[in-house]
This record gives sequence, C-alpha cells and structure tokens, in this order.
Amino acid sequence: MARLHLITYGCQMNEYDSERVAGLLRDQRYELTEDETQADLILLNTCAIREKAEEKVFSKLGELRHLKAANPGLVIGVMGCMAQLHQGAIRARAPQVDLVVGSPALARVADLVERVRRERRPVLETGEGPLVSIAARPRPGRLRAFVTVMEGCEKHCTFCVVPRTRGRERSHPPEAIVAEVRRLAADGCREVTLLGQTVNAYGRDLTPPTDLAELFARVNDVAGIERIRFTTSNPYNLTPTLIRAMRDVPKVCEWFHLPLQSGSNRILERMHRGYTRERYLDLVAALRDAVPEMAFSTDVIVGFPGETEEDFAQTLELVDRVGYDNVFAFRYSRRPGTPAADMPDQVPEVVKAGRNTRLLEAAGRAAAARAVALLGRTVEVLVDGVSKRSAGELAGRTRCNRVVNFDGRGRVAVGDLVLVSVTDVLPHSLRGALAGQPEEAECLSR
Ligand code: SAH
Ligand code: F3S
Repeated sequence: MARLHLITYGCQMNEYDSERVAGLLRDQRYELTEDETQADLILLNTCAIREKAEEKVFSKLGELRHLKAANPGLVIGVMGCMAQLHQGAIRARAPQVDLVVGSPALARVADLVERVRRERRPVLETGEGPLVSIAARPRPGRLRAFVTVMEGCEKHCTFCVVPRTRGRERSHPPEAIVAEVRRLAADGCREVTLLGQTVNAYGRDLTPPTDLAELFARVNDVAGIERIRFTTSNPYNLTPTLIRAMRDVPKVCEWFHLPLQSGSNRILERMHRGYTRERYLDLVAALRDAVPEMAFSTDVIVGFPGETEEDFAQTLELVDRVGYDNVFAFRYSRRPGTPAADMPDQVPEVVKAGRNTRLLEAAGRAAAARAVALLGRTVEVLVDGVSKRSAGELAGRTRCNRVVNFDGRGRVAVGDLVLVSVTDVLPHSLRGALAGQPEEAECLSR
C-alpha cells in the first residue's frame, strides 16, 4: 500500500469530496496517513471562497516544499476550488505541485495520480469529468454524515466564485442517494445532512425531474436514520412544495439555513440574488407558519461594494426581526473574475471590520433571546458523546442543532434519542436534566 495524506480546507462539501477521493484512491491501493512526512501522495482539497482561504493553502504549499526536496518521489496535488480557479498561478507560485485537479473532474483523480507517476511530469485537469459516485466510504460508527446530493451551481451572484470553481449543476440520482443513506444507516449513522450549493434546486436537471421534497420522503423511509438536514438553500428557489415537505416529513428537522447576504434591496440587486428583503421576510413567515418551531441560520456579507451605512442598517434591522439562531458574517472579499470585484465603491477593510462586529453583536442579542425562551422546555436530543464541559456529563444536539449537556450516565447510550428538560441557557449551549425517551412524552422538537 502507498500512503496518502489529505488536507481539507473550506466547506462541508469539501470534507465530503475528500472522503470520496480517499475512497477512489483506496481502490488504487492508497491508505490514509495522518503523518505528512510518511506520505507518498499529499493532496490539498482547497477553498477559494475568500482570499484568506487561499492564503492558507499557499502557505501550506510553502511548508511542503522541503518534504518534496527530501523525497523527490513524493507527489503533491492541489484539488478543489482553488485548483479550478488558479491552475496557472498555483504552478507558477508553487512549482513543487505535480497535480492540479478542479472539482468537476474529481472522479478522475486516481487516473491523474497514475499519470503523474507514469509520465513524471505535472498534470493539470480543469475540465469536467464524469459525475463521481457519491459512495463516500463512511467511517463506521459515525452518528452524523453529509451526503452531497448535487454538484455545482449555476447562479450568478456577483460576489461568488463557486459557479466557476464547481461547474454546472449536476444532481445525483435519488436511487444512488438513498442507497448511500442506507449504507450510512447500516454503519450506525442516525442523522444525514443533504448537501448542495443550491440544494433546494435539487433534481431539476434529472430525467424525469424530481425535487428536494421528494428526496426528503425517500430518505425519511430509511430505517435507522432519525434526522434529516439540508444545506444550502437559496431563497430564490424556495417553493411552497418544499415548505409543505418541511412540515409533513417527520425526520426533517426544524432548522433552516437560509442565506440572506444583505437586508438592503439595493445591495441584493447588485448582488444579483433574485429576491428582495420583503420576499425574504415572506418566506421566513411562511416557514414559521408551517413549522412554528423553525430555527433559522444565515450568511451575511458585510462591506459589499457600494454598501452604505443606510444599507447596513437595513441588514441589522432584518437580522433583528428574523431572530436567527446563528448568523455567519463574512467580510466581502474580492474574487477574481467576478462582476463585484470590478464594481466601484469598494468598502475599506476597516469599515467592513466595524460592520462585522456590529452585526455579530446584533445577531448575538437575537440568538440569546431565542435561547432564553427554551428555559424549562423539553427538547429532543440525539446523544453524541461525553460533554466537553464536564467529563461526567453527556452531550448531544437538539433538532434545531443546539448543543445540550446533561447528566445521563448509565442510563443513556451514544446514538440514543432522549428528552431533556432545559435547566440552564449558556452562551453556546444548554444544560438540562434527562426527562425520558421520545415515545414517553410529546416532543417539543427544539
Ligand atoms: N451556495 C451557498 C453559498 C456558498 S458560499 C448559497 O447560495 O448561499 C458560503 C457563503 O460564503 C455565502 O453564503 C456568502 O455569504 C459567503 N461568500 C461567498 N462569496 C463571498 C465573497 N466574495 N466574500 C465574502 N463572502 C463570500
Ligand atoms: Fe455562490 Fe450564489 Fe451559487 S452564493 S454558490 S453563486 S447561489
């Protein structure tokens, strides 16, 4: 066996891609090693969403240079979003790299590695390969797993590189997804998160076309799986059918990641997001109407070109109004080849930093108010291990993705679903007391 060291940057989809690549290479007799100095092949699965993510990769490549000097047989590869976006620049800045393979061609990674070895010269692949199988070789015993249900993105958000780095929208057939979820369940998995860049556009490219609501129903039928999550949704594609499915499919959790990006219509238009603040608020209202317990999280970009104080105030106001459980704030980062990179009125970094802080403060206040409302309530918890806070306690997550610590030693096992009544609300977690198994009482999902 040869040894493979895999380093993953960026999003959950990258984590999943890395597992798939590890699986493909295992078929070519590569086993994983944690120790980069022992590796015959080092692959960096990269992220290009913001400049900071890219800098990390270049600095890691710099570190790897001496390994290559010591072991000329070592193959170093860069895959994923940066590979697709910066193929030439990577070879120029890091000549120690032997292989550059973009996300749409990941299915070919094993062949490409072989080619590098055989031909003893660098290989660049940024075309589109066949759709890589989603069988991700799960590590047994995992309670939660991601399953990528569609690749690529065809939206035109003016700040975003993903459509360039990940290529066309390509959905995996529902049969393949269900088969993968069954395998995961057989290995002990209880919760799956269905992944896609615009996951709520799932299935429209298939023949016959299908959608996420139908996929929910199919995954719901898999015995052993208790919870279904999905991310990321685009408000533009959010249909009444999906809202109904969230209400009606029991295993789908009351948790919705709905990226806002901005609360100002002027900025949303410049971002080319395809919705207004009013439409966004209507969607939140419709979702809460269908599922009153729904928890929302979101992504917001601060300092998009041309964003004024007035625009930003509208974002703060909207964040306050929705009351998110979690807000991910990003300072706008200029991405090569995207329309926003060339827009006038770029916002100074110091202004972005100030807005970032104010946004997180506002988000924190709204989240705290939501958390306090949980005091005294009973929540369903999927037990996933011992508590990080106190070794004597167990920890798990609610359907709305909150961490709960509670004393259940001797009575409860990892993987159990239990009811816990909330006794304390802390900044990033809840504490509670074991209140029984879900069948024993009506579950108040959050
Ligand atoms: N498909 C997802 C987005 C994936 S990128 C969606 O539709 O929401 C994840 C998040 O990164 C985005 O929601 C956005 O908030 C942020 N992001 C993307 N491009 C960015 C950029 N150029 N600068 C700062 N943040 C960015
Ligand atoms: Fe990016 Fe917009 Fe697609 S944020 S991933 S282009 S939906």
